[in-house]
Amino acid sequence: MSAQDFRRFGHELIDWIAEYFERIEDLPVLAQIKPGDLKSQLPSSAPQSGEPMEEILRDVDRLIVPALTHWSHPSFFAYFATSTSAPGIFGEMLSAAFDNKAMLWRTSPASTELEEVTLDWLRQMMGLDAGYTGMIYDTASVSSMHAIAAAREGVELRIREEGMSGRTDLPLMRVYISEQAHSSIEKGVITLGLGQRGLRKIPTDSEFRMDVKALEAAIEEDKQNGYVPFCIVATVGTTSTSSIDPVSEMIPIGEKYAMWLHVDAAYAGSAAVVPELRHILKGCERADSVAVNPHKWLFTPFDLSVLYCRHMDLLRRAFSLVPEYLRTPEQENVRSGSDYGIQLGRRFRALKLWMIIRYFGQDGLAARIREHCRLAKVFASWIEESAEWELLAPVPLGLVCFRACPPTEGIEGAERDRRLDALNEAIMHGVNATGKALLSHTRLNDKITLRLSIGNIRTGEIHVRQVWELLNEQLRAAPRPETIKE
Ligand SMILES: Cc1ncc(COP(=O)(O)O)c(C=O)c1O
Repeated sequence: MSAQDFRRFGHELIDWIAEYFERIEDLPVLAQIKPGDLKSQLPSSAPQSGEPMEEILRDVDRLIVPALTHWSHPSFFAYFATSTSAPGIFGEMLSAAFDNKAMLWRTSPASTELEEVTLDWLRQMMGLDAGYTGMIYDTASVSSMHAIAAAREGVELRIREEGMSGRTDLPLMRVYISEQAHSSIEKGVITLGLGQRGLRKIPTDSEFRMDVKALEAAIEEDKQNGYVPFCIVATVGTTSTSSIDPVSEMIPIGEKYAMWLHVDAAYAGSAAVVPELRHILKGCERADSVAVNPHKWLFTPFDLSVLYCRHMDLLRRAFSLVPEYLRTPEQENVRSGSDYGIQLGRRFRALKLWMIIRYFGQDGLAARIREHCRLAKVFASWIEESAEWELLAPVPLGLVCFRACPPTEGIEGAERDRRLDALNEAIMHGVNATGKALLSHTRLNDKITLRLSIGNIRTGEIHVRQVWELLNEQLRAAPRPETIKE
């Protein structure tokens, strides 16, 4: 493409993106298409010769946009609501232009050194101590898997050299998580060859936090059975409810049994940027590693997850492999990203985070997160004031777990919950089908629970009020629980 055309289409595209954000509230949050609709409109094989850019961009409008679920819509309240931001988009554009593969220091000194500096800024912003070194991975699933791999390397069972299969000398190795931990930890354990039997799930208390006594009892029992407990994963901000495991109480257990303590703060870690919320990372000053996702709540376009680790030597020992073609004269004196993970080439992700932190500043980022938490409290107060709705979990951050619970004359116990489950599912699907807002759900204490997550940079009180009205409209339109048939 000529420089002249690049400029022309580039300017058009920036205008298009600016308009996209201006009109995003007119678009349905959830894609209103059926499975297969997009595929059926696309040719089944690639074009033989190149097509004009104008036509490709027209098809973005015509075909791609209707098939999008708009995560940047201010009424996106599902899963963990997240959003991109202008400096993040610019960072992605530049990183695509530079197209560096940051596997070795010399293949991208800028990426390597900017990552070190930016992650140290973020560490300070979150109030983590200087013993932590940060590494960028794509997702928290991958960050946490690397932490568990480093923990396993520390056990000195020669797994790197000899593997795990076919060994009769290897006891069952165990990782401990709460029942509320994210499924990515279990996937990491499976990927590392530890097997689902190598994971033990610990019950939680009435506020969905790991029961520390049960954790210690489980470790004791496993040790007596000859197993090797080697890693505890605490969650700060669980996926279903944003509950915060008592890391400070888990630390002494990890220390007593010489186990690695990893903290999955994928969602909530960013909130520690807000000075009055820093306490959520209490205990992390003695943890071994912490994962946090700027792509969740720090307005960073997907993907960018950070692993803070105290034992970079173990992470390196688990993953470093330097064939002749990657040897460099400076390798002993510099950091090379490929030494700390399964990937060789690494994207230049630090650039967008650096631009975001500089553009908003710590105060700007904190103000937005603080406002999200305030909006969650406002929404929770409406629930509490209403006789037809109830909260199903505490609201420590930007997530509200609730359900509709209108009077159910003469119907009690499990039967009542079954009817309320059907009602709440109908309400959620009803709201989502309007295209005006998007919610998701979970199951808590065997009850269908609606989740309203506030984390989008464009979300204001008006959007929260709108979704509250939508929920109430759906409740009024739904059949009363007494008449719901299973
Ligand atoms: C607590 C927690 N950990 C890990 C993850 C996985 O995140 P990722 O998509 O970055 O792998 C999530 C996703 O929501 C999460 O809530």
